[in-house]
Amino acid sequence: MKTDHVQSSVRALTVHAPRAPLSGSVQVPGDKSISHRSLMFAALARGTTHITGLLEGEDVLRTADAMRALGADITRTGAGTWTVRGCGLDGLHEPADVLDMGNSGTAARLLSGILASHGFTSVMTGDASLRGRPMKRVMDPLAATGAVFLSRQGGRLPLAIQGNANPPPLSYRLPVASAQVKSAVLLAGLNAQGETRVEEPVATRDHTENMLRHFGASVHVEPMGAGGRVITLQGRPELVARDIVVPGDPSSAAFVLAAALLVPGSAVSVRGVGLNPLRTGLFTSLKEMGADLVISNERVEGGEPVGDITATAGALHGVDVPATRAPSMIDEYPVLAVVAAHATGQSRFRGLEELRVKESDRLAATVALLEANGVKVEVVGDDMIVHGTGGAIPGGGLVQTRMDHRLAMSAIVMGLAAGKPVSVDDTAFIDTSFPGFITLMNSIGAGLAA
Ligand code: S3P
Repeated sequence: MKTDHVQSSVRALTVHAPRAPLSGSVQVPGDKSISHRSLMFAALARGTTHITGLLEGEDVLRTADAMRALGADITRTGAGTWTVRGCGLDGLHEPADVLDMGNSGTAARLLSGILASHGFTSVMTGDASLRGRPMKRVMDPLAATGAVFLSRQGGRLPLAIQGNANPPPLSYRLPVASAQVKSAVLLAGLNAQGETRVEEPVATRDHTENMLRHFGASVHVEPMGAGGRVITLQGRPELVARDIVVPGDPSSAAFVLAAALLVPGSAVSVRGVGLNPLRTGLFTSLKEMGADLVISNERVEGGEPVGDITATAGALHGVDVPATRAPSMIDEYPVLAVVAAHATGQSRFRGLEELRVKESDRLAATVALLEANGVKVEVVGDDMIVHGTGGAIPGGGLVQTRMDHRLAMSAIVMGLAAGKPVSVDDTAFIDTSFPGFITLMNSIGAGLAA
């Protein structure tokens, strides 16, 4: 599947509260983190990997194109069904052109780890949002393996990478809680002789560790301190193709479930949602707010826990979300802030420094989204404090989505439960992670203009 990947036309939208409650049972697209990794790791394995449930969002399609440019044979055989014929660990070749990672930080950071440990030169770029995001966090550890990086000022893309095919194994303590940085270091360690060791003071999503093991690598994880982990990977494993089933993305389900909690009288189920405990901080926080969220049919699919989640609208109260929970819900703060705006009392989300370096400065953008719609919100240090209205928020504002899919979807959720319609400047970037979002929301009664 090839698209031109260009969010060429701005898609503005005005969101009105629906006339009737939301209801139904839906399935959201595949997990974005797992989809990127499945294409990358399958390209590094020997043999043919069949993937089902792959997210066909623009971010993941960029990864598919990049891995093709590096030599993997990748084909789409049906909706969400893809086949990857891998090249083996040392089998990638120099790309003939610049690798354009679009809007995707995950694609750019993880690929840096792969490219740094291959003996050729490559150049990576991205859209205006990605070109503004920090790459130094991966360049710093990877430079210690002998890879050479040339970037724009401040470690920004475009970035040229001269890889080292024979890197030494790293021992690295993460200075920021980032699964992308952890993954870049581990991926560079695949081609290193010996043991790569990563210490993370707070555990972050572990899809890289799980999937590398699935493909046959030896990855050992030990607890460290209060909530941290030490991950060790034996270098030069024989990665062998294994089929992958991608669960529904909990970060996408978040928007559907939040809308159901806020639109009075609603009840909506999302089937087949990934429930990896390092991704479910939002659901914990919502339950602490008194949300009627029921998880059923829990099972394991493709090595990841999965379940169905039903959200029923009802009264909510404020919550204090500790900083230690942030990595397990890092992408969910904008929509949680929208939910908190409807709750009774104050909510405080602690330790949000990493929100400043997402697809947009999500801390500032979430504040602007709420303030434009009549909600009182403050930032104190790295904490966000939302003053809940205890009912429908005023609305009536214009939300600037800043090339950020999650802001666009949060703004739509906000509009569905606001007193006055909410205008969204551009919804086009939703396609990076949740193609079909508006159609899916309309299938449960949102009544959004196409
Ligand atoms: C991701 C890690 C997180 C998250 C991003 C996906 C991943 O980023 O925000 O959407 O797939 O590893 P950080 O590693 O920067 O926290």
